[in-house]
Amino acid sequence: KVVAVIMVGGPTKGTRFRPLSFNTPKPLFPLAGQPMVHHPISACKRIPNLAQIFLIGFYEEREFTLYVSSISNELKVPVRYLKEDKPHGSAGGLYYFRDMIMEDCPSHIFLLNCDVCCNFPLPDMLEAHRRYGGMGTMLVIKVSAESANQFGELIADPITKELLHYTEKPETFVSDLINCGVYVFTPEIFTAIEGVSTHMEDTANLRHVSSFEAFHSFTRTLPKDFVRLDQDILSPLAGKKQLYTYETMDFWEQIKTPGISLKCSALYLAQFRLTSPHLLAGGDGTKSATVIGDVYVHPSAKVHPTAKIGPNVSISANVRVGAGVRLIGCIVLDDVEIKENAVIINSIVGWKSSLGKWARVQADGDYNAKLGITILGEAVTVEDEIVVINSIVLPNKTLNISVQEEIIL
Ligand code: GDD
Repeated sequence: KVVAVIMVGGPTKGTRFRPLSFNTPKPLFPLAGQPMVHHPISACKRIPNLAQIFLIGFYEEREFTLYVSSISNELKVPVRYLKEDKPHGSAGGLYYFRDMIMEDCPSHIFLLNCDVCCNFPLPDMLEAHRRYGGMGTMLVIKVSAESANQFGELIADPITKELLHYTEKPETFVSDLINCGVYVFTPEIFTAIEGVSTHMEDTANLRHVSSFEAFHSFTRTLPKDFVRLDQDILSPLAGKKQLYTYETMDFWEQIKTPGISLKCSALYLAQFRLTSPHLLAGGDGTKSATVIGDVYVHPSAKVHPTAKIGPNVSISANVRVGAGVRLIGCIVLDDVEIKENAVIINSIVGWKSSLGKWARVQADGDYNAKLGITILGEAVTVEDEIVVINSIVLPNKTLNISVQEEIIL
């Protein structure tokens, strides 16, 4: 048997995702019309002999109750949310729930970061992992040398694929091969985490009695039950024939900002073309509105037949799209109203917002720039004929003058 664990973090994480994470936990923010965490979960469904999926985080339980029960029914695989009383780190969180994870005596445990966007080649990783015969196999990808320092940089043996060296977000360049945050482990991972936390406990005690406080102070200032997978486990185990790498040649992104989430929504829509074409609009659901390229429309949304939508548009529940509206490259969240002839380009429109007639909400679409996409927070009103360009508008604002390159607080 195999189990999968998805690390979802908690409210103190994902602060760069504001203002979209004020009311909705980041893992439930919709990409291609499905909660972010839905994409790794449905990828897990392709793992042979999958017994259970666990989401581990420190959000309130009630935030996940609805989603977890509906997805369990849909996939016919039990999905459970396990809440930490406080953050234990990416490895500490896993270890904290080891008894529940090991309940079905799985031979392998998948561990996935919730905030990565890729095609999750999990069955291929499992096969490679069995061939390598180590304790763990990590998904890796080549990125540009300039962007590599935002991730765990690593060196792998070109023939055996063994992980030889690992440094988390190094200051000086190590390698353009990086950690994708997707792993498969044997249950020995728990012994490895235990080893690290006992070692930490020892150094902590030592520090307590030692008069050479300054000497030891470089070791650690974090609590002893806080264990990070990357720095505390992967780094020390590199080069010991225990960890291996599996390189993906497909797409991969880390979803830290709203700008990147817009890009990831487009990537997942493109993937639906291959995996779930029934989720893409094209006639029936949109009642003959013109659809261009990959578009998702929630069944409860009402789109006027004269609207033109796409490519890369995702429209959530109860959205109303008026006559002559044009939507390109955007995420429109629940309960938004878009009146006649309004235009939205390269933007995210928050829950319950409304756009007046002939209003324009747009941006250049530079996903990495701070104001490269326009974001309207929850319940923002853009009045008739108002233009909002390359701006971020915080929740509950009413715009009656046009703005450009501004953050409206
Ligand atoms: N449950 C729980 N508890 N989850 C946590 C905790 C915790 O205490 N701390 C982090 N996480 C989750 C985050 O939500 C995220 O999904 C994952 O664990 C990793 O988060 P971080 O430890 O903050 O690392 P990171 O996202 O900056 O970088 C990691 O992922 C990159 C790939 O996206 C590193 O492993 C990098 O090396 C890697 O490139």
